[in-house]
Amino acid sequence: MTLAESTPYPGHTPSLTDLEQTSWQQLASVLDERNDEPLAPGFKTMIVASRTETGADARTVVLRKVDPDRKYIWFHTDVRAAKVMQFEAFPNATLLFWDEALRTQLRLTVETHLHTNDYVADEHWQTVGAGSRKNYLSEQEPGSEQSAPYPGFPPSLGASLPTPEASEAGRPNFAVIECRVLAMDYLRLSREGQLRAKFQYEPESGMAWLAP
Ligand SMILES: Cc1cc2nc3c(=O)[nH]c(=O)nc-3n(C[C@H](O)[C@H](O)[C@H](O)COP(=O)(O)O)c2cc1C
Repeated sequence: MTLAESTPYPGHTPSLTDLEQTSWQQLASVLDERNDEPLAPGFKTMIVASRTETGADARTVVLRKVDPDRKYIWFHTDVRAAKVMQFEAFPNATLLFWDEALRTQLRLTVETHLHTNDYVADEHWQTVGAGSRKNYLSEQEPGSEQSAPYPGFPPSLGASLPTPEASEAGRPNFAVIECRVLAMDYLRLSREGQLRAKFQYEPESGMAWLAP
């Protein structure tokens, strides 16, 4: 057996700084419209875990915006959704990403901030297509009990999309959740050696390798 074969991480071991920058680049690449093949398609959606009065909750959402320099992440939701109430009571949350091809998990500890009636929400609303706007037209509160299946938009719309003018009626229900990233836990699975590291941003910055 050669030395290379008996050593974990054949090739080269990335530096903590490289790993941190690459991870943010991979998150941002998902939203790069010039990129036909996103670098990390698995990072398109994430699980958002929140705290509740009695325990914890979690759900899938779509990643909508990333600021790798300021360490912010944004996603969209209906202002009437249960998660919004949970973030108002307990602003801290965890965002969990998994990319099968990269064999990489990112676990971000964040502080959430709700935007509904401000320029941040207005700016995001301009980027929301008719297909997504349709969901904000729902007359029923998300999670409310119904006597029959409810499609999540006015049933009269059927398979059609709302016109741009009609879709504006959904604006009062639209919310942006801004997530300030406080820390990132990185894990890459590999038979040749797992890689786990933590990157702390707030209250103080720091980075370290962790045992997987
Ligand atoms: C692939 C996928 C993407 C989703 N994206 C979003 C999203 O971007 N925003 C959102 O509020 N809900 C999204 N949902 C629905 C949520 O998972 C959840 O069911 C809903 O928001 C209600 O959650 P809550 O009761 O915890 O507020 C998505 C679901 C799936 C399966």
